Amino acid sequence: MDRKYIIAGNWKMNKTPAEAKALLEEIVKANAGKTACEIVLCVPAIDIPAAIEATAGTNIKIGAQNVHFKDNGAYTAEISAAMLKECGVEYVIIGHSERRQYFGETDQTVNLRTAQALANGLKAIVCVGETLEERKDGITFDLISIQIKRAFKGISAEDMANVVIAYEPVWAIGTGETATNEQAEEVCCFIRGLIAELYSTDVANAMTIQYGGSMNAKNAAELLAMDNIDGGLIGGASLKAPDFTTIIDSVK
Ligand code: PGA
Repeated sequence: MDRKYIIAGNWKMNKTPAEAKALLEEIVKANAGKTACEIVLCVPAIDIPAAIEATAGTNIKIGAQNVHFKDNGAYTAEISAAMLKECGVEYVIIGHSERRQYFGETDQTVNLRTAQALANGLKAIVCVGETLEERKDGITFDLISIQIKRAFKGISAEDMANVVIAYEPVWAIGTGETATNEQAEEVCCFIRGLIAELYSTDVANAMTIQYGGSMNAKNAAELLAMDNIDGGLIGGASLKAPDFTTIIDSVK
């Protein structure tokens, strides 16, 4: 299966523009010319111009961490898809669990943001994942199913070519506790099956499905070797150039 592998960093609220420039220069240098996977760094919005400049003409793409679902208007502090696009952003993370947990993101707003990103030519990295309580209650697959069905309501099969799904169990994010390879594979495989049901096996087979949640330089190779894991969404370890580079090199 020649699915595209994508290793994406999520810097969250870290790095000033000057710090972003310095770290990106390190990452660019360490990964020049690599083609085994697409490399994306999703940086804070204020860092985007510096990040675009630092990665111009390289194999590193820049992503944002959120996008508003309206074209423009009275939405103080929000950033539109057109603004991101004009800056040279290619990807945008949508529905990260921290947005859901702290900023009132819902499955419905995830759907609206996804549609808006795709309509404006951005690629959407849509995050889904269960909490520890939901896993213990045995409703992981029900929950993932609801999140996916709602996120992609009204999204065409054609548009799904510009969608990446990131499975991020909430209990594994920033906790140092990674899902086991089997746990991660089981859910990623379930997601692919669900996409096949909702769209087609062609759409499902072409879809890049990432794992995220304490992926690091030590565990990346094993996770990325699983059949249905086609990349990673990496928080903490994407802030260290050597660790992030090791993860990139783990893609076989
Ligand atoms: P982590 O974050 O790698 O620091 O666990 C992953 C994410 O939130 O995308």
